[in-house]
Formats: sequence, C-alpha cells, structure tokens
Amino acid sequence: MSPEDEISSLRRRVAELEAEVMEKSQNDRFRLVVESAPNGIIVVNRDGEITLVNPQAERLFGYTKEEFKGMRIEKLVPQKYREGHVERRTSFHAAPESRGMGLGRDLFAVRKDGKEFPVEIALTPLSKKTGMHVLASIIDITERKRSEERLHRYSQELERSNAELESFASVASHDLQEPLRKIRTMGERLQQVSGEGLNEKGQDYLQRMVKASDNMHRLIRDLLAFSRVATRAQPFARIDLATPLKEALSNLEVAIDEADAEVCLGDLPAIDADEGQMIQLFQNLIGNAVKFRRADVPPRIEIDASVEGEGDRAVCRIQVSDNGIGFDEKYQDRIFSIFQRLHGKGKFEGTGIGLAICKKIVERHEGTITASGVLGEGSVFEIRLPMIQVQENSVDQL
Ligand SMILES: Nc1ncnc2c1ncn2[C@@H]1O[C@H](COP(=O)(O)OP(=O)(O)OP(=O)(O)O)[C@@H](O)[C@H]1O
Ligand SMILES: [Mg+2]
Repeated sequence: MSPEDEISSLRRRVAELEAEVMEKSQNDRFRLVVESAPNGIIVVNRDGEITLVNPQAERLFGYTKEEFKGMRIEKLVPQKYREGHVERRTSFHAAPESRGMGLGRDLFAVRKDGKEFPVEIALTPLSKKTGMHVLASIIDITERKRSEERLHRYSQELERSNAELESFASVASHDLQEPLRKIRTMGERLQQVSGEGLNEKGQDYLQRMVKASDNMHRLIRDLLAFSRVATRAQPFARIDLATPLKEALSNLEVAIDEADAEVCLGDLPAIDADEGQMIQLFQNLIGNAVKFRRADVPPRIEIDASVEGEGDRAVCRIQVSDNGIGFDEKYQDRIFSIFQRLHGKGKFEGTGIGLAICKKIVERHEGTITASGVLGEGSVFEIRLPMIQVQENSVDQL
C-alpha cells in the first residue's frame, strides 16, 4: 500500500471513529432525556417489540425493565383493542409523523396486574440504524378523568337545582298572587263597608294592611318577571340591536319627556340575541338612568357600542352612561342582586329587580355586565355580549 493510500485509509478510519463517538454521545444524551422525562416513555421497533423504557413506564405498568425488554407493545393494550392496535401500528409506520394517539377516542392501557387505566399518548417516529422506531410518551390520566367526571356531575346537579328553583319561584309567585288579591279586595271592602265604624287606630291598621298587600303584590310581580327570564326565553336570532333599543325608548317615552332627558344614540351592531330580552335590558338601564337623575341637572343619557375581536370571539361592548346621582363604587356588585337598592322608596320608586333581571339576561347570553359610578356625577353600565352565539342555551318553556 502506497503511503498516500495508507493516509487516506487512516483518514477514513478517523472519520468512522468520529461518527461512532458522535452517535454514542447522542445516544447517551437521548437516554438521559428519556430517563429523566416525567412521562412514561416506551420505544418500540417496527415489529412492535419494546426496546427501551424509562423508570416512569416501569412504575406506570408494574413491569421491570428486564420484563419489558422484547415484550410486544400489544401486551400493554386492553384485550379488546389488541387486534386493531396491530393495524394502527402498521399504518403509523407507513406514514410516520409526530402526533397524539387516538384523537377523539378514549385510550386505555393495561397494567401487569390486569387493571386498565385511561391514558394520553403522543407518538414520535425515531429513525435508528436498526430501522424505524416509535417513541410513545404516556401519561396516566385517571385523576384528570375522575375530576372531569366529578365536575360534569356537579354541573348537571347545579343545572337541575337551578331549574327546580326557577320553576319554584315561577309557580310560587304565580300562585301567591291570587290569595293576595283576595286579601287586598277584602281589605278594601272592609274599608267601604265598615271603615267609618272603625276608630282612628283601626282605620290606620286597615290602611297599612292594604298598603302592605300592594307592596307584596309588586314584589311578587317582580319575582315573576325575574323567573320569566328563564321560563319565557326565546331562541337566539340575528337582530339589529337598534331595533330593541328603539322599542325600549318608545316604551319609556313618557318618563323621558317628563324628565326632559336628552338621549344620545351611537351606532349599534347586529348580534345573535333574544330580542324581547334586549328590549328589557335597554329599558331597565335607560329607565334607571332617567329615574336616578340629579334634581338640578337636566339628564343626559348616552348609549354607545363597539365591536372587539373577530369571528367566533367577537364581542359587542355596549355602554349606557348618565349624568345622574351616581353611586358609591363599593356597591357596584350589590346593586345587581335581587331586591337590593341604595335608596329609600320615598325618593325613587322601585323594588330593586331591574338590574338583577339585566344580569340574568346578559348571563343567559354568555355575556357580562358591570357598573361604575361616581357619587353625585353619574354612572356607566357596561355590557359585553358575544356577537355570535355558538351553542344555543336550552329554552325551557313552562
Ligand atoms: N343609573 C343609575 N344611577 C345611580 N344609581 C343606580 C342607577 N341604576 C341603578 N342604580 C342603583 O342600583 C339599585 C338597583 O337598581 P335596580 O334597577 O335593580 O332597582 P330599582 O330601579 O331601584 O327598582 P326597579 O328596577 O325594580 O324599578 C337602584 O336602587 C339604585 O340605587
Ligand atoms: Mg330599575
């Protein structure tokens, strides 16, 4: 062999050795990553034989590294899925790419003791000198499934008890109206027939009784209106928000004229909503803005809207602002509760149902309503409603 040939053969040998060292160090690094991974990892060759596992996989399945070696992966698949798994494995090798396994299906694995458990698996093809391998990264999702099921049960239970409460409020308020009407009528008759025969104290009692029954009648009527947000709900439809707004303003015409209120309207978009409920929403908010005006300042009410985001996530933001008496911000949540008012009946009429109805309507539309105000200067009510209703809320017509 000539010295040149010897040199080039030596060079080749050095290059081979370098490649071997590189591969060994890559393999060592790969093993280190696999060993320390938090998920169970199992590497399988083309024939479905296990060639490598990490300690997490040993813990997950209850087999030792030695027992795993050469075992067919199908042994870890529940009996009823084994046949299908062989087919799926073959088709994965035909078009290998990193992906989640069993998308849309619930996956289960089987432990050494025969117990099945739900898993999530990600597959990654590995090209090795000995051919194509697949790395399966496995997570035991027993706990997650359990809490999902618990959550599902709770939400069903909540829905059921809400519906029960809803129908109780509706039935109770409806049925209470009749006996109350009778109490009021009898009170009035008593006043007519023997009112004069009663002394001053007696007349005062009678008057107070009639007044209290009037109050109760109003409360029951409002409770019924509140429960009707759910029981008289209509399916969502595409509507131009300017239409219910116009309707609400027309219903409030007398109050607006009497207060000499100035109403400024911005452009409103079209959204998916229950039109009747949008009328109620605007009417309650604008009605409040007119009612809670300052005695010495002409009321000015602004209704404005804008659209935020796009597509399915687009949100319509509506603002109703006034220059009225405002309120202390510490009450900004409380005012949305049923029958909660910040002022005595003597000063401003009402029972405190309007904003509770607004909140219920907005929540049925998967939206939010918030209030901010400055005492003595005015209030702003902001509503956010999805432009598109992805899933229709159930409409339980009583
Ligand atoms: N625009 C506003 N300016 C100042 N305070 C407001 C305004 N809107 C609501 N509030 C406060 O929030 C309370 C609750 O409002 P809500 O509309 O629920 O009840 P109401 O108007 O008093 O009675 P109802 O709506 O049953 O006639 C009001 O009593 C008032 O104290
Ligand atoms: Mg109101």
